[in-house]
Amino acid sequence: MNLKNLRNSALKEILGAKNLEELEKLQIKYLGRKGELTEILRKLKDMAEAQRQKIGKFANQLKWEIEGMVEKKKKELGFLSSVDKEWVDISAPGHKLPKGYLNPRTLVLRKVEEIFQSLGFSVIDSTEMETDYYNFQALNFPKDHPARDMQDTFYLTDEILMRTHTSPNQVRFMEKHNPPLRVIMPGKCFRRDASDATHDSQFYQVEGLMVDKNISVANFKAVIAEFFKRLFGKEVKMRLRPSYFPFTEPSFEPDISCTFCAGSGCKICKDTGWLEMAGAGMVHPFVFKSAGYSPYEWRGFAFGFGLERLVMMKYKINDIRLLNFGDLRFLKQF
Ligand code: PHE
Repeated sequence: MNLKNLRNSALKEILGAKNLEELEKLQIKYLGRKGELTEILRKLKDMAEAQRQKIGKFANQLKWEIEGMVEKKKKELGFLSSVDKEWVDISAPGHKLPKGYLNPRTLVLRKVEEIFQSLGFSVIDSTEMETDYYNFQALNFPKDHPARDMQDTFYLTDEILMRTHTSPNQVRFMEKHNPPLRVIMPGKCFRRDASDATHDSQFYQVEGLMVDKNISVANFKAVIAEFFKRLFGKEVKMRLRPSYFPFTEPSFEPDISCTFCAGSGCKICKDTGWLEMAGAGMVHPFVFKSAGYSPYEWRGFAFGFGLERLVMMKYKINDIRLLNFGDLRFLKQF
């Protein structure tokens, strides 16, 4: 076959190939071992010198040309077939992606932090592992103090434990910062408690601490009453019941009028009309001394409340353990 005709038909056919299979057949037809061009190249050696040079040059050029053409066409067809496969109907309605939900405890904690921040308190982070010293000794629980029994402790070693409350951060914070100060320190606590509907071995507390020159119980009452009012969105009655903690003096527990029955008595408040909300008191001079503050110069109040208690009241949840199960049927409701 005439090389010029070969060139014309090869280029025409390759350009017209409709898919990769067709193209492959053409590649074999023209460039394959038994292909037409290969045939010509093979016959070169039998030709006379002058003819061999002329035809050889042209035939080799044609070979490169066809190879280049095939490559180009291959890319084009490959692209078209991938476009075909990846075709998207941009007018189709979208799939809704499943949404994540925040644990109700997170929702309430955010609200608590927002309220205290607006009252001038900073939110401080802290660690869950503690030493016996900060969890107990610095807070006026000597080694054999009976009040240690109030807090069944998970010990990791003799001296290291999972904190049973957030109060160790009172001393930790005061060691590093000078008064006056206003902070809350939320975090997870651990106690070796049998779990039931109202107790779990993991729970959150929010510790609060305010220290200044002339702080009194009146300051505490004002701050905590404002907090409850903003959290529940209405005025609530509050009372301080005398209590005992080694690290506060005097100590008390603020109760609020039951938010479910408004004080007339119901199952939630066990017919008392009141709900226990926290432990609190005036910072004990011993704690100031642990932190290196002069108890003669500074006064403060501290409080610690259980976060889950607030969550359960706000969302009328009757089992604290639901907050830790990670059950989507539960979590999707918030
Ligand atoms: N840490 C105490 C508890 O866990 C609560 C508390 C905090 C009491 C601060 C007084 C002051 O029971």
